[in-house]
Amino acid sequence: EKAHAQEGSVFSFAEVEAGVDADHHVAEGYDADVLIRWGDPVTNDAPEFDPLNQTPQAQAGQFGYNNDYVGYVPLEGSSEHGLLLVNHEYTNAHLMFPGLVTVTDGEAEQGPLSQDQVDIEIMAHGGSVIEIEKVDGKWRRVAGSPYNRRITGETEMEITGPAAGHDRLKTSADATGTLVRGTLNNCAGGTTPWGTYLMAEENFHGYFAGELPADHRETENYARLAAPGGWYEWHNFHDRFDVSKEPNEMNRFGWVVEVDPMDASATPKKRTALGRFKHEGAESIVAPDGRVVFYSGDDERFDYVYKFITSGTFNADDRNANMDLLDDGTLYVARFEEDGSMEWLPLIFGEGPLTEENGFESQADVLIETRRAADLLGATPMDRPEDIEPNAANGRVYVMLTNNTAREEANAANPRIDNAFGHIVEIHEEGGDFAATTGRWEILLQCGDPSIAEVGATFSTETTENGWFGMPDNAAVDSEGRLWVSTDGNSLSATGRTDGLWAVDIEGEARGTSKLFYRVPVGAEMCGPLPTPDLTTFFVAVQHPADGGEDWEGHGRPSYYEDLSTRWPDFRDDMPVRPSVVAITKADGGKIGMA
Ligand code: FEO
Ligand code: CA
Ligand code: CA
Ligand code: CA
Repeated sequence: EKAHAQEGSVFSFAEVEAGVDADHHVAEGYDADVLIRWGDPVTNDAPEFDPLNQTPQAQAGQFGYNNDYVGYVPLEGSSEHGLLLVNHEYTNAHLMFPGLVTVTDGEAEQGPLSQDQVDIEIMAHGGSVIEIEKVDGKWRRVAGSPYNRRITGETEMEITGPAAGHDRLKTSADATGTLVRGTLNNCAGGTTPWGTYLMAEENFHGYFAGELPADHRETENYARLAAPGGWYEWHNFHDRFDVSKEPNEMNRFGWVVEVDPMDASATPKKRTALGRFKHEGAESIVAPDGRVVFYSGDDERFDYVYKFITSGTFNADDRNANMDLLDDGTLYVARFEEDGSMEWLPLIFGEGPLTEENGFESQADVLIETRRAADLLGATPMDRPEDIEPNAANGRVYVMLTNNTAREEANAANPRIDNAFGHIVEIHEEGGDFAATTGRWEILLQCGDPSIAEVGATFSTETTENGWFGMPDNAAVDSEGRLWVSTDGNSLSATGRTDGLWAVDIEGEARGTSKLFYRVPVGAEMCGPLPTPDLTTFFVAVQHPADGGEDWEGHGRPSYYEDLSTRWPDFRDDMPVRPSVVAITKADGGKIGMA
């Protein structure tokens, strides 16, 4: 069956059979090699991973948990030597710490965590910068590199742009409102045209607990964005994560953070001009006039699609001239009209409804309360906007909308009520100009199982039973202008399948044809798909393998996969399951997915 050739497809590989087991699987003729795992040393003074004696200090120098975004900055233009940029979105305590889960009468209970465990979690967040090189066709980490760096939930960062220094960003630890400790829940991300690393802060509210009085200035703000979630136990040991003790700390998260990977001592900067919401990704492209356009989804049911256009223009000859481009520009939110047209609405203080009458006293207020400002402008509520990828090859933009089972009323851009499987919207910017403020849009794909009519999936008839997917989350456009989509939660759409990476045709007769290229081990989500510029390597991030399976002492967890588990990638009794970044190469060294 693998010989099935999809008519007109620009992808050439024998597709992987959909399924689920303890291991990962890549298309025949390709190698999938683990490059770095949770706990591997990143900084040059970090110790080897010792899971039974883990400490916050060790974790602060080792590869963090739940790798998500993967970026690559070539050194001297090379696709075989560069800096790997990796986000560490969140932690799964039940998979990290032995003995944390107890089971009584079949009921699993977790915790409480010690302060050391909490501090290990904080250090396992953030990101990693790792120098890597390809030697004899295989990637390896460069030990002792001056670029190797960990960024954690404690790394000191600067707040810059229009909201920097605002009273609403001041705390008892920082009377200036310009210095914050750490970045959290970095989901997708981006790499700028000038080679800096963007970390997008997504579900930051989960780390906070406590309540504010009903009449407090931030109560309504936090309710619209996300009330403190209490998903973690950090507030038990650190007052800044309790909003009743430190009411403004939560306003200091939800931004896009820029890191210069070329200087391991550079202070990361939270760029407030890009707005504050549950940022999923920040991929960019240079517009014809030289301004730079950044796309960002706000991953929440009924939230919005944004883009930021810099005021200044990209200078390809002088890297330093670009280093503060992200502090000055205009943030826009998308309105998708029923007739297939669209408009990008600017979020500018004093314009339209964004005035003192509506509680905005400055651009800082508009940015701190981006969602409320976008509500007032009449943006289109979407089905959970995740990663957004511009495509230089065709002037279009691909928006992953992962699902929205709470939708009771459809609109043209979100056409399915109870949208369990998500869809992909394709934006055609006016004249192919990414800086345009109008355009058209159409739906590239409605996801889900095409063999079930009620699902309403629109994959091409060339798509096999392995090729369809649900819950698009991350995406990549390769140097040939081809689209690749990875999923989060596809496993839940039908037992017997996992998340993975699919190649999706977007042009010609094959448009809507999808093929499975790689799939993850049981319980995992597929993140960070990133091809190198020369297309001979595809980096992928395997996130939370075994989650929803069993913890590493074999205690059952409620799950779809109670009878399955994995110790991927080591398969050793003395090692826990470990989120890892994988480098995929073609056995003959050729280009990925090309004949
Ligand atoms: Fe972290 Fe929206 O996925
Ligand atoms: Ca995601
Ligand atoms: Ca992406
Ligand atoms: Ca997701």
